[in-house]
Amino acid sequence: MNLRDLETQFGRKFARLATNAVVRSPVLWRAFRGPIRRQFDRLAPRWDELRADEAFAPLEEALAALPEPPRRALDLGTGTGLAAFALARRFPQAEVVGADVAEQMVELARRNTPPELADRMRFEPADAAELPYEDGSFELVTLANMIPFFDELARVTAPGGSVVFSFSSGSDTPIWVPSERLRAELAPRGFADFADFQAGAGTAFLARKGAGS
Ligand SMILES: C[S@@+](CC[C@H](N)C(=O)[O-])C[C@H]1O[C@@H](n2cnc3c(N)ncnc32)[C@H](O)[C@@H]1O
Repeated sequence: MNLRDLETQFGRKFARLATNAVVRSPVLWRAFRGPIRRQFDRLAPRWDELRADEAFAPLEEALAALPEPPRRALDLGTGTGLAAFALARRFPQAEVVGADVAEQMVELARRNTPPELADRMRFEPADAAELPYEDGSFELVTLANMIPFFDELARVTAPGGSVVFSFSSGSDTPIWVPSERLRAELAPRGFADFADFQAGAGTAFLARKGAGS
């Protein structure tokens, strides 16, 4: 195993450790934020090479089940923007924002934005633990292989809006949260209509925020 493979292995284990710790105790993000940001800044130039072709198949399955198309969608932990591009293609009327704490990822997402999507997409550096958006700003929030911060997620999702979590390799994804945990965190925050999806090796989870929440 060469040095780069070792670094990748370590990075995957560290991402799982951070996910488990932060989901259990969000205050720990203060300790993980710097190392995670640096890890993904370093990975950014070769991120797309590491993505399998089917990485977003489960996300697409869940999006196909949305009750209605969103007007405004947010992709959290957007990385190089691949899931955000999928949103913009699937929902041609939607404004799509991609946010990521790693500035190198945001730079690449901006640079890679297909010209035909550019007028209704933007990419911004932002921390999902403390989002710079108004309450109820988005009818759809997606997280592809991304650590969830449930309070902020619930705050920025519009009443009646949806959230989708996708994990490209199911439970083998380094950043993975089991469906039971997602349900347990989302139900008290006003979400319901939970649904699970599977596509290839990947999984996704859809939830809808109550219209009065
Ligand atoms: C495993 S990558 C997934 C990237 C992309 N969604 C994909 O599936 O290709 C996780 C991404 O989430 C970002 N991230 C992690 N914690 C974050 C946070 N608190 N706020 C915003 N982005 C975050 C990382 O910088 C990284 O780009």
